[in-house]
Amino acid sequence: MKLKPLSLALLCSSVLFASTAFADGVVNVYSYRQPQLVEPLFKLFHEKTGVEVKMVFAEKGLIERMEQEAALSPVDVLLTADAGRLVEAAEKGLAQSVSSEAISAKVPEALRDGANQWFGLTMRARVVYASKERVKQDSISYEELADPKFKGKVCTRPGDHPYNLGLIGAMIARRGEAATKTWLEGLKANLAVKPNGNDRAQAKSVAAGECDLAIANTYYMGLMMTNEKEPEQKEWAAASRIIFPSSPEMGTHVNISGMLMAKNAPNHDNALKLMEFLASDEAQALYASQNFEYPVNPAVKASDIVAGWGTFTPDTLNMAEIARNQKAAAKLVNDVQFND
Ligand SMILES: [Fe+2]
Repeated sequence: MKLKPLSLALLCSSVLFASTAFADGVVNVYSYRQPQLVEPLFKLFHEKTGVEVKMVFAEKGLIERMEQEAALSPVDVLLTADAGRLVEAAEKGLAQSVSSEAISAKVPEALRDGANQWFGLTMRARVVYASKERVKQDSISYEELADPKFKGKVCTRPGDHPYNLGLIGAMIARRGEAATKTWLEGLKANLAVKPNGNDRAQAKSVAAGECDLAIANTYYMGLMMTNEKEPEQKEWAAASRIIFPSSPEMGTHVNISGMLMAKNAPNHDNALKLMEFLASDEAQALYASQNFEYPVNPAVKASDIVAGWGTFTPDTLNMAEIARNQKAAAKLVNDVQFND
């Protein structure tokens, strides 16, 4: 059998991984979340339990890697930055059901899978960054972003990014496909520039006067406000304020970061320990504050910076329902040629 260079590389990394994967006191994590967000948690977990966390981080392709590795995969726990990927992994048979009172008691029902195959850990809202200088209104709805009065005033990252697919998926669940398509067309017509860049780039555009209203996740505001390495981001943050969109049809769209246990987790017991730790009050508070997110456990307080943005009414849709609409959302983005 001939191996292509890519599969050879994957095989090599898997073999290297396998040499330690089955050692005592280890749990293997594949993470779509940035290492700097999760490493402080893994350190604390190690101090408490003696179990060492070995992590592979990638922004893309981890689910595909799990599929390829199949039963030989060393992975125990998958961490994601959105609900869509949790549902995708579960639908592909890559997850196993985890019955743990310690987890279920901490994660509200709407933010976990009905069959206990995945669980939310932190929550973020997809909001509007409104120019402090040019936007006078204090409230807004997602529907309003498509109103012709904002022609040339709105900016967003590409429509097929998981964060936007989540929002569009929620809109489909709330208002149906036809109304969502009309909304997307209106939103596209209001864009100041073609969708490009990440959420922070949209804040930069507001600061530069290129647009007045940007669609972005809440935590980027906190990350920019406190960015000592790139202080110009503090200026981007200072140019906007957060408005939590809501209307009678739809509250503020929230998405989750979350976790699941791999179907063939070789270190099942350590994986369970890690997952229970991540759901604990202590880890929730630390995890959420690292990235300026909302803890999924309502008993755990958000950080002061996050609390300073005010309160909002989260849309109550179940995460699974939003995730189920991802494909339909991607199709609409394509149909209206949102990114072109
Ligand atoms: Fe993000």
